[in-house]
Amino acid sequence: MPKKIKKELAVIILAAGKSTRMKSELPKVLHKLCGRPMLGYVLDLVASLKPARVVAVLGYKQELVRKIIPRGIEIVIQKKLIGTADAVKAGLTALKGFKGTVLILYGDSPLLKKQTLKKLLDYHSENNVDATLLTAQLKEPFGYGRIMRDKYSGICGIVEEKDADEVQKDIKEINTGIMAFKKDKLLSNLGKIRPNNRKKEYYLTDIIGIFAKKDYLVDGLKIKDAQEALGINTRAELAKANSIVQKEINEKLMQEGVTIVDPASTFINFGTKIGKDTVIYPFTVIERDVKIGKRCFVGPFAHLRDGVRLADDVTAGNFIEMVRSRIGAKTFVKHFSYLGDSSVGANVNIGAGTVTANFDGQNKNYTVIKDNVKIGSDTVIVAPVKIGRFAVTGAGTVVIKNIPDKAVAVGVPGRILKKR
Ligand code: UD1
Ligand code: MG
Repeated sequence: MPKKIKKELAVIILAAGKSTRMKSELPKVLHKLCGRPMLGYVLDLVASLKPARVVAVLGYKQELVRKIIPRGIEIVIQKKLIGTADAVKAGLTALKGFKGTVLILYGDSPLLKKQTLKKLLDYHSENNVDATLLTAQLKEPFGYGRIMRDKYSGICGIVEEKDADEVQKDIKEINTGIMAFKKDKLLSNLGKIRPNNRKKEYYLTDIIGIFAKKDYLVDGLKIKDAQEALGINTRAELAKANSIVQKEINEKLMQEGVTIVDPASTFINFGTKIGKDTVIYPFTVIERDVKIGKRCFVGPFAHLRDGVRLADDVTAGNFIEMVRSRIGAKTFVKHFSYLGDSSVGANVNIGAGTVTANFDGQNKNYTVIKDNVKIGSDTVIVAPVKIGRFAVTGAGTVVIKNIPDKAVAVGVPGRILKKR
């Protein structure tokens, strides 16, 4: 048998659409799942396939969307947002001279898995198909295009929800939007699509009917886990996708040795690093760019915002908010504290109710607390300020100037009493 030549792959990502059904000014593909724009997940997926070429089709507020497109991806602008077929046509202008397989991905379908796409692509090339669709069987297919099959169960077209009659609406097999094409056939037939539908748009899905009529080989691969097919058009779908991604993030962290007492009430952003044997208690929110060491205790009710670093053996306990702060090893911040723009050393005890007053109305100011400090309950630290090693503050101190090493400060405003 002659060795099969693997066709080169180009991917076109459709991300030009508005946020009409989201009722949002932000482009839909920039809406976030676990702290990351949904398009980011699609871009990762594409990178994992290692295609020869990648084209992103942008349109609505493209200047915002292009900020998250990595180098190496060609950007094409769809001038008028008149449908997915027109978007693909725009994408193909960047692929002149390319011969091979074109995979279409939608920027609003971020839950797909690499293995699923690999399977689709393998099937497509091994069987020499002209168009291979990724389909899914859904109990509630509302909103999706339905796959129409002929009496030999070959795919003969796709009908969109808005254009479907009652019988067609009963079809449970849907179009995920993911399709692999032979490039030349895609290109030569796109122009035949007309906007003869309720939305007056150029539907990419119409190409399937055109292919079928021409007796091109059209085939479908049904996705195993229908959840992967979720296309996000509404805020409710965004929330659904968010909880799926959150579950995956939490499960991965647990596999890596993190205890999450109640995953259902723990919200950890994509990309958070947490060391082994750390325990996350319920009702904790961890936002982007947070790193937590080993054997820490976080929560319940902790809110760790961007730029937080906890070294090993840190306790960031009940009702804590931290942002842009580094906390040294074996430091306790156990109850009701706000630490913003701060650097806290090792072996520090931050008493209940401690607040860094980091914002003076104009600027964010920095607090430095060195190793082995004891901050008394209800201390307010008016930044910028430095608190030296082994220093102590009394309960209720308002610190407005630096405290030297080993000094004790009390009162309002904080007076230095003595050196220990
Ligand atoms: C689309 C499919 C539908 C499928 C569903 C799966 C069509 C006509 N329908 O419907 O069969 O079941 O996805 O989720 O394709 N876009 C552009 N330019 C445009 C229009 C859209 O780039 O002019 C982009 C959007 O940004 C989005 C993607 O194409 O990422 C899909 O568009 P969307 O409007 O969400 O299509 P659906 O109605 O979900
Ligand atoms: Mg959609």
